[in-house]
Amino acid sequence: MIVCHCFAISDARIRALIGECATGRDVMFKCGAGRDCGSCRAAVEALVAQHRVGVRSSQRATC
Ligand code: FES
Repeated sequence: MIVCHCFAISDARIRALIGECATGRDVMFKCGAGRDCGSCRAAVEALVAQHRVGVRSSQRATC
């Protein structure tokens, strides 16, 4: 699914960068999403937040 229509950046590309980046802003800096109209920024931040919740949940499950 395309998240950033200005630069044709997919959710898969964003998810691939999340592990390398500390924040949603870092993800956007690396892939270019959010640098034009900005309408995708909330979606990128949501993907990062979803990833962080998933990581925390899986860490709790193993403790
Ligand atoms: S949709 Fe991402 S900058 Fe416009």
